Amino acid sequence: MRTLRVNLPGREYDILIGKNFLDHVGEILKERFSPSKIVIVTDDNVNALYGIRVQNSMERAGFCVKLISLPPGEQTKCLEQLSYLYSEALSFSITRRDWIVALGGGVIGDLTGLMAATLLRGIPYIQIPTTLLAQVDSSVGGKVAIDVPQGKNLVGAFYQPKLVLMDTQALSTLSDRIFFDGMAEVIKYGLIADRTLFDTLYNCCGRKELSEKMEEIVYTCCDIKRRIVEQDEHDTGLRMLLNFGHTLGHVAEKEYRYETYTHGQAVAFGMYQISRIGEQMKITPPGTAKRIRSILEKFSLPCEIPLGKTIEKTLGLDKKNEGTNLNIILLSQIGKALIHKLPLSQFVLLVNDVLFHSE
Ligand code: GLY
Repeated sequence: MRTLRVNLPGREYDILIGKNFLDHVGEILKERFSPSKIVIVTDDNVNALYGIRVQNSMERAGFCVKLISLPPGEQTKCLEQLSYLYSEALSFSITRRDWIVALGGGVIGDLTGLMAATLLRGIPYIQIPTTLLAQVDSSVGGKVAIDVPQGKNLVGAFYQPKLVLMDTQALSTLSDRIFFDGMAEVIKYGLIADRTLFDTLYNCCGRKELSEKMEEIVYTCCDIKRRIVEQDEHDTGLRMLLNFGHTLGHVAEKEYRYETYTHGQAVAFGMYQISRIGEQMKITPPGTAKRIRSILEKFSLPCEIPLGKTIEKTLGLDKKNEGTNLNIILLSQIGKALIHKLPLSQFVLLVNDVLFHSE
């Protein structure tokens, strides 16, 4: 098992990355903590695969466990389910000395994290991410949130977990669609921060070849994220780089009501199109978007998503906005990204030009 330590003063935690340890989660927790009760939050798909195994291992270690399973899918990340979690945990008489565990993908991690941040003004929580996207991104760094009708992740908090446990064996049961969803974020790390990672992905033949390297890849991505979060926990500067591709990605996700495209598919589209814009602005070297397109296609990720004319309204709600200015993330080369501030109106013109006028 490999360990990464996230060094945030007063809120340090470890990320443990290994294989085949979900039956031993109870022992791992017992070595480190002593809660009396644990509430596990998961979804029905993950529950069928791992819920009982994780629950049994915690009970064997002496914890009193309540498992709550929710419907899978982005629609679960809402106020109604948050309220249901509060009432289930309170009926289990949870206290601040107890623990909450998020077992699942990004939806479960974000929702459960927000529950932990707010219930009784904060209960310690652990992330056990089971999708690639959750392992390399959402379980690390403490961003927790729900979606509201106005947009994704618009109600949330920064609340760091006490521990993150990543079992890369869990990735083997993911469908290609969900595995490739996470690959978009893996490719993103290569593009913004690690040319070697990008080259490894660019030169590999596909999912099968990557399977043997997943521990290493997950470790590399989490290490990049750890370094960024340590410098900018609250997303006021450097951390915005992690949003490469997300500005247009969020527009696509929202336009299709979070149903048609996965987050990773939307981000893939966003990374490709923002690189075309970067090339037009002469910030991103020519030919970059073409290389991005070819790596995305290898992992069945889309470069084109038809969008209507709601772009301006959705962009107006982007959390990276400062007044009428928007912070966009561009590549200065493969492996290096920068934040570029520009008026929202100017960005909308650039987007319209790239999406609707050029081929
Ligand atoms: N998912 C981007 C971040 O954690 O900042």
